[in-house]
Amino acid sequence: MEKLRIAIQKSGRLSEKSLELLKEAGITLNNGSRKLRSVARFFPLEVIYLRDDDIPQYVEDGVAHIGIVGENEFAEKGCDVELIERLGYSRCRLSIAVPKAEVYNGLEDLQNKRIATSYPVILEKYLAEHGIRADVHVLSGSVELAPSIGIAEAIFDIVSSGSTLISNGLKEVETIMQSEAVVIANRNLDGEQKSLVADLLFRIRSVMAASNNKYILLNAPNENLEQIIKVIPGMKSPTVMPLAGEGWSSVHSVLSEKTFWSVIDRLKELGAQGILVIPIEKMIV
Ligand code: PRP
Ligand code: ZN
Repeated sequence: MEKLRIAIQKSGRLSEKSLELLKEAGITLNNGSRKLRSVARFFPLEVIYLRDDDIPQYVEDGVAHIGIVGENEFAEKGCDVELIERLGYSRCRLSIAVPKAEVYNGLEDLQNKRIATSYPVILEKYLAEHGIRADVHVLSGSVELAPSIGIAEAIFDIVSSGSTLISNGLKEVETIMQSEAVVIANRNLDGEQKSLVADLLFRIRSVMAASNNKYILLNAPNENLEQIIKVIPGMKSPTVMPLAGEGWSSVHSVLSEKTFWSVIDRLKELGAQGILVIPIEKMIV
């Protein structure tokens, strides 16, 4: 049987989470450390480990059928591949930063300045759209050093926690794009490959849904039962069972991580008691 070949980042901001996601999707890799490829057990999948910058091209060429890559690299490389899923991790933004002490009043201040970056395509496009002429200076790494060593007045780079900027005496002045890990796919997959991709995506979505949701159990006073059910609608509707004690019901439902704390507060106001919140292992969506 044919194997699906997936490219993931060898080492860097996406690699650990990507491996973890595959693992939670039930894909066990016979991972010798520092290997460049590994074969999955129990799923017809082969993993190749690449530099993130190379992944879009490998996927476009069909060397890998799909890949997990930062949206930043996807946008920068402009390869003809299809974005098939957003994964929600390794979130960061791509921003312009200038030395902290510099007065910055807006994009006009960048006119005719030198900007160092590893993302010239995204930057040039943005500058052109905003009518700014600047000298884009391409560096493959340590971009944040450029102002202090005098080779640029500004930089354009990934910002996540912001600590790299701070430790290099820079301040973020323009955010150009948001980025997260995404799955990209080759555009010419055959039927069998497509169905393997669909199987894998189904597993990945179940893992993501589970991590974004919690199972909640609580005891509800019957007089507020209707309102409580409105607060936690669940996947279809919550399970409601009478308690042995008069006037109370047990309610089971699924709660989204996003609204979690506001919902808990509302439930307490409505007199819910004995609230238990349990992680969900997998959620079949
Ligand atoms: C990026 C970027 C910054 C840092 C920002 O590098 O170039 O150096 O992350 O993150 P922070 O805001 O949390 O400090 P990355 O680790 O992706 O390595 P690379 O530049 O070599 O790809
Ligand atoms: Zn990189």
